[in-house]
This record gives sequence, C-alpha cells and structure tokens, in this order.
Amino acid sequence: MPSYPPINPRLPQIWHGGDYNPEQWPPTIWDEDARLMQASHFRVATVGVFAWAALQPSEDHFTFDWLDRVFEVLSNAERRVCLATPTAAQPAWLSAAYPEVLRADPNGLRRHHGRRVNYCPTSPVYRRFAAQIAGRLAERYGRHPALVAWHVSNEYGGACYCQTCAAAFRTWLQGRYASLDELNARWWTAFWSHTVTDWAQIEPPYANGETLTAGLSLDYRRFQSESMLDCFRTERDAIRPHSPDVPITTNLMGTYVHLDYRAWAPELDVVSYDCYPWPSADPGDIAFLHDLNRGLKDGRPYLLMEQTPSSQNWQPVNALKRPGVLRLWSYLAVAHGADSVMYFQWRRGRGGAEKFHGAVVEHGRDPSARVFAEVTTLGQELERLGPATLGATTPARVAVLFDWPTWWALEAAVGPIQDKQYPETVRRYYRAVWRRNVPVDVVFSDSDLSRYDVLLAPMLHMVRPGLVDRLRVLLEAGGSFVATCFSGVVDETDLAFEGYPGPLRPLLGVWVEEIDALYPGQSNRLLLADGSGTYACTRLCDIVHAETAEVLATFGDDFYAGRPALTCNRFGAGRAYYVATEPDDAFLDDFVGRLLEQHGITAPLAAPPGVEVTVRERDGQRLLFVLNHTDSVAQVELPGRFRDLLREMGVTGTLAVGPRDVRILTPLA
Ligand code: GLA
Ligand code: ZN
Repeated sequence: MPSYPPINPRLPQIWHGGDYNPEQWPPTIWDEDARLMQASHFRVATVGVFAWAALQPSEDHFTFDWLDRVFEVLSNAERRVCLATPTAAQPAWLSAAYPEVLRADPNGLRRHHGRRVNYCPTSPVYRRFAAQIAGRLAERYGRHPALVAWHVSNEYGGACYCQTCAAAFRTWLQGRYASLDELNARWWTAFWSHTVTDWAQIEPPYANGETLTAGLSLDYRRFQSESMLDCFRTERDAIRPHSPDVPITTNLMGTYVHLDYRAWAPELDVVSYDCYPWPSADPGDIAFLHDLNRGLKDGRPYLLMEQTPSSQNWQPVNALKRPGVLRLWSYLAVAHGADSVMYFQWRRGRGGAEKFHGAVVEHGRDPSARVFAEVTTLGQELERLGPATLGATTPARVAVLFDWPTWWALEAAVGPIQDKQYPETVRRYYRAVWRRNVPVDVVFSDSDLSRYDVLLAPMLHMVRPGLVDRLRVLLEAGGSFVATCFSGVVDETDLAFEGYPGPLRPLLGVWVEEIDALYPGQSNRLLLADGSGTYACTRLCDIVHAETAEVLATFGDDFYAGRPALTCNRFGAGRAYYVATEPDDAFLDDFVGRLLEQHGITAPLAAPPGVEVTVRERDGQRLLFVLNHTDSVAQVELPGRFRDLLREMGVTGTLAVGPRDVRILTPLA
C-alpha cells in the first residue's frame, strides 16, 4: 500500500493543537495565548467552533474584524488555523426569528432555544443560514496562508422529530419505496394493523408513538443520518469554491449510534474525530476507535481532532489523566493512523458548561502547571519527529467488521435479549487480535475484503446485498471468515430471513434452528471436540445444525448439550467458522491464536502483556510503535538493530521501556 501525502502539505508534521475560543475572551488576552501556544508547541488552533453570535450578531450584520485580528495574531506567532464554521449552535436571534430551525424532541415537541446541536437538520432556513455563514467565512479566509483545514460545524448528531423532518421523511420514503404496498410489505405492517393507506399517515418513530415497527425505526435513522450529512455537504459546497486547496472535514465521534460514518466518509476530505475514553478504559478499546476511524476511508490516516489534555467534565466522575497518559494515549492514536494530536480545549473559560473541562491553559494561567508542561514536552517531541510518521499505512491482514445498520437493527429488535451489546461484542473480538499485537483493520459491509486473510464479523445480524459476494471472494482465495451468534437474521429492511443465518448459510454450512438467551450470571460451556479445552459462554446460544460444516466444539450443558457451539465449513480454499454463542476471553484468545497461526500471521515484535506494538509503513519503511500501558518497566527483545526516532539513537538487544513510555523504532540495515 502506498503511503499518503500529508493532509495539508503546508504542515508536514504531526498536527499539535486544538480548540481555541478567543471569542470568549477580551482581545487583550490573545497575545498571551499566542505566546503560550508558541511555548507549548501548540501549532494548530481550531477557531470559531461556537462563534456564530460573535460573527453574525444579527441577521444582516457580520462582524469579522475580531477574527481578522485572531488570524493576524496567530499568523504572526507562526501558528496555523483550522477554521470551524459556527453552525453547531445557532444564535438566539435566529431561533427567535425562525422558530422552525429549533429541533423537536422524540415526542415531537419543539425544544426551546439553548444548549447546542439544537437545530433541525432538514430546515431549509437553518441550511440557508448555515451555508451563508460558511460561505462568508470561506470568502474571507479561504485562501489565507495560515489556514490548514476546515472544520465544519461540530459533532453532528442526535435526531429531530419536527414537522419539517416528518414531511421530508415522507418524501425520502417515496424515493426509497416504489409504492405504499412495497413499504407496507417491507415494514411488515399487517402486524397489529399498522398498515398505512396514505403517505401522510406515516410519522417519525415518536417516543410516544410508533416505536415498535423496526423498519420504520431503521429508515428514520437512515434518513436522519443522511439529512445531517446533507447539512455537512451544504456547508462544504459553500466553502469549496473559495478554498479549493484546503481539506474540509467535520469531527466525528467514534462508535456513535446516530450517524453511519461509513456513509459519511466519502464526503470528507479527511476523517477527523474526537476521542474521549473513560479514564479507566482498556487501551484495546481506544485502539479500536482509532482503527475504526482509519477504516472509514479504507486505511487513510485521520486527524485526532479532540481529546482532553487532562480530564473530561461530562462523565459522572472525571478522573485526571495520570502523568504520562496524555503522551501515551496521544502516541496510541499516532500508532494507529492519526496524523495529528489535538485537544479540547486550549483555555478554560471562566463560565459556561465546560469551565471544569480539561484544558491546556487552566484557570491558574500558569505555564508551570503539570498539564501545560506535559503538553509542551509532547509538542516539542512531535516537532522533532517531523514528518517521519505522516501518511504511513497499516499493513493489516486481519479485519473486524463493524456495521452501523446492523447496530440499528439490533437496537430496534425486541428479543431475544434486551441489551444486544453490539459494539461491545465487536470490540471483544477486536481486542483478542489486538492483545496479540497483530495489525487489524476495522472494515464495513461495503469494504473490499479481498486483501484480508482473516475476517471476524461478530453478530452480523443484518446482511445487506453485495456482502456475500465479497465474502465468497475472501473464502475462495483461502481466507478465514468468522461469524458469530445472532448473525444473518435480517435483511436491510429488518425482515427476518427464513432460516438463519440467511444468505450466510451456504458459506457457513449451518442452520440455526433456535436461539436461547441466558440470564445474567447464567452460563453454558463450550467443549472443544478434540478435548483440548473447555470455556464458559454466556448471553446467547444458538441451537445449530451442522449441514456441511464440521463440528469443532459443542455445548456442555442444558437440553442442547452436545449440539454444535463452534463449526468450520470448508468453502473454496477457505474456512468459514460459526461461533454459536458468546464465549469468554480465554476462548477468544485461543481461537484467534489458532486462526492467526494457520495463516502464519505474527506480531512484529514479541512483547510482554500490557505492551502494545503496532506497525505503520511509510515509503517502504517499517515503523514500530512500542507502547507500555503498564506501570512498570517492560523488557522487549529486539530482533536486530533499530533507530529510536524519539530518542534519536540506535538501539539493539533488550529494550527497557519505562512505565507508560513509548518508543518508535525503525529497522536499521
Ligand atoms: C466534544 C465537543 C467539544 C467539547 C468536548 C468536551 O468533543 O466537540 O466542543 O464539548 O466534547 O469533551
Ligand atoms: Zn426537524
């Protein structure tokens, strides 16, 4: 795979910076900001995210002078600007003059003005004003030499249930279904007499209305995700003519249920996202988020647009990142494909809902503060590293499949267990590969699968047209495909296949006759047929007939004891596995270990538990990232001589990696 050009050739180094809100402060403080940004090597300031009222204090009045001055101050200090459009929070005058721009809640009730992301995504008025301010900003700053990226709006999300959306949804449905008869059939509306006889009878899935027609719920999610994407496109298209060379993005939120980011990705010039793990998060789960974002554009580097330098403020308990964690988790992002390390936020406001959110500059304004010092050290180091990692790719032969419509269908499904835990389930399989330090891509139902040797597709509940053909290609070429319980159950409108796992049945060689759900605390056992292992399994147990598949393990208990729990079907030159339950991590470790062994896939370096190793490749050169997630020194044996890019020295033999330390190594001839 070729390496990619820098996201913006004007800034050929890892971007270090973050959200800057000068509009909240008197201009007298801006010079101090610029000085402190220089001191902390904070190179890119994301400006304007929530500055709509400051930029357009009334419908006919625009005030750009202050932003001109901010550009000037930042440029003079040799800082770069990531310019945001302010459209995530409309000003009060706009809501007051055009109440239809306000979002309606799930009961269809119009919300009052306030908070943020409180606009209706289908409102023509909102879109008109959003495009106008985006266009004005682009006209004025689109070719400014300090500008490195456009950050459209902020964290699109949620859903609106207003009358404008209801009407737009009906039109959208008319484009999707040839007739009401077809819609009734696809939504299975004969159930409970839900048949609609006029398009006008269709309503959004109001919380106090129709929440139990899964086809409707699914289509509404699609429609809202597409409508918000249309908002993004509207602004992007207003910007582009005035700023043709600057990449345009918006900040995504990882595994965020409302928006199908895979469908969004082609519209973004570069993927960017905000990463706010719980302080106690398993680094494997954070790694998953990074790999997901790299996967959105099929392996292209992405921007880590926001992370907290110290703590969040919106979780029930907001622990500080311990010393060293900021650096470790920043490199964790880079190790998985980020070409930036950016924060929310530069300076803490004295008021507002985020005055206790971590910031590079805290209320004490003192550069001797721990966080400022850690940011500074990291900034220096990133600057020294220069372009060494930029554009590098991840050579993964293993992939894990994540699919938004499957998630939506699982959320809409009533039974057989309430909490489907879809992202959690995908992450469990992902982590089993991650724990082995084997590079893994996150892929989607429409991804090209032909380059993978192993594909894990946990709980692939919905199977959409086209996927089976891509799976066949993978299997015919000798790949391994793993499906798990509750997969191949519904089509893209949530109609159940008659016989699970539906179109996957010929590949997997199994028929799932029934699905048992286990109570919390209850478990069954998975017994390997060759007697080599027994594992616990929980939550869901499919009762399976092996048709052409070989039975590798059986259930140990209950009335289906002895029935298949793990099967393998030869298909083409490949093997298709069915894991008929949710086995424990010990099973996943052993099972994934065997799969990797069969394909001769190994870790780039042997490392003790808690030490992560990832690979990126750039211009034919391998970069190994060694991240010690533990609190003790770890010894890593190096197979040869390497250059340590952060310490700028040669290393060989046993490498002692300190607690939370990071090394970036490249082999020396
Ligand atoms: C998001 C937003 C920011 C800020 C942070 C707080 O990522 O984009 O504006 O609210 O969360 O964690
Ligand atoms: Zn609406």
